[in-house]
Amino acid sequence: MIETYSHIQTYQNGLKKEITHEWWQREDLRYVGGHLFLAEQNLYSIVHSARTPCYVYNSDRIKQNILRLHSALLNESLRHRIFYAIKANRNLPLLSYIRGLELCGIDCCSPSELLLARQVGFLEEEISYTGTSVSDEDLAIITRHPGIFINCDSLSQIRRIGRIAPGREIGIRINPSIGLSANPKLQYAGSKATKFGIYKNTFLEALQLAAHYDLKVTGIHCHTGWNFLSKQHATGEALLNEICWFVEKLDNPKYVNLGGGLGVPLIQEDCVFNLELWAKLLAKYFASKNLEIFVEPGDYIVKDAGVLLLQVTTVEKKLDKNFVYVNGGFNINCEPAFYQNHLEVIPVVTRKNNIDYSSDLIQVSIAGNINEPIDMFAEDIYLPPVQEGDYLAFLNAGGYGSSISSNHCMRGNFMEYLIYKK
Ligand SMILES: Cc1ncc(COP(=O)(O)O)c(C=O)c1O
Repeated sequence: MIETYSHIQTYQNGLKKEITHEWWQREDLRYVGGHLFLAEQNLYSIVHSARTPCYVYNSDRIKQNILRLHSALLNESLRHRIFYAIKANRNLPLLSYIRGLELCGIDCCSPSELLLARQVGFLEEEISYTGTSVSDEDLAIITRHPGIFINCDSLSQIRRIGRIAPGREIGIRINPSIGLSANPKLQYAGSKATKFGIYKNTFLEALQLAAHYDLKVTGIHCHTGWNFLSKQHATGEALLNEICWFVEKLDNPKYVNLGGGLGVPLIQEDCVFNLELWAKLLAKYFASKNLEIFVEPGDYIVKDAGVLLLQVTTVEKKLDKNFVYVNGGFNINCEPAFYQNHLEVIPVVTRKNNIDYSSDLIQVSIAGNINEPIDMFAEDIYLPPVQEGDYLAFLNAGGYGSSISSNHCMRGNFMEYLIYKK
């Protein structure tokens, strides 16, 4: 039985909507008797017996996310590989779990990520490397792993790889001048020049440079945005069309790497990403080209598998605002403060068993414990009454939370738990 409640919510972008909280509930994430459960674990018993701040991840959700992606691509008979973008979450138990599944490889963007992937047991041929501002020192490390896929994102990188490893196969990260993103702050390509990839105007020069060093360009790589959903379908189609222009310039292309960016619903208005529609679109553009499709999602695999649990330290009204302060800050999860990405906040335990959510809710702003004005998790959202000592769950925190965290104000301590069932 799924319990529900509804209220008017204000999102980080100012949008006000009446929402019912049931939108985020799933079989593995829901209230039972007023307690929030993830993967059949009562989250209150975790915060009660352990420490907050903490992240809790549902390993089985991660597996289901990868399997769903595979089956959508297989349904269209697309030859494909999935490379999990390790930057989204590099928690060791989580990475080892993903390794053990043997369902995907790793996308990495720095020598340290590459070495971590190798330590966890990924083989060179299961790793794809796409970096930016790559130094000679980086290249020295990367080229010591001859079996990995490397996608070059600048003429300079092609030139320097050519000198160190002539004859090698490479991919080229292109910039198609089209961004596919739910958030302009997380757009990697568009009408304005960005630092990523090689544009059309220098692409032929890039191919000549590669030929000069006997580098064989066997792949095209393209990553242009974050959390795209089916409402971005038309832009997605324009993007694929543009990618084909680059692919067609290669002599013997083996793969097209479409990067990450596949979205998960963060607010009620977001519909679940229609993977079938997306896979059909890929088939339309690439099935006849005998190419292997590579994808390197991060968020799609881990974001909705994780929650961040924090304790309420202070409840106090300042002028006209009800502030709820918690024992973690934007250094532990920077998504709301840096990008205005919404993390749904809900109580770990609902105070009353049968709250009338249309009248009992209060408008609050959730503030962190860092001495900086940007340290707000949410502003003017509606929550059931909250008291000092209560616990709050921040949903969709499995990606780009712990991995971007810092020790700012020396408040960088948090725990991470992976729920794993044999
Ligand atoms: C090159 C590349 N590939 C994949 C990803 C993963 O993106 P996401 O987590 O949005 O799927 C990123 C994210 O920054 C990236 O830069």
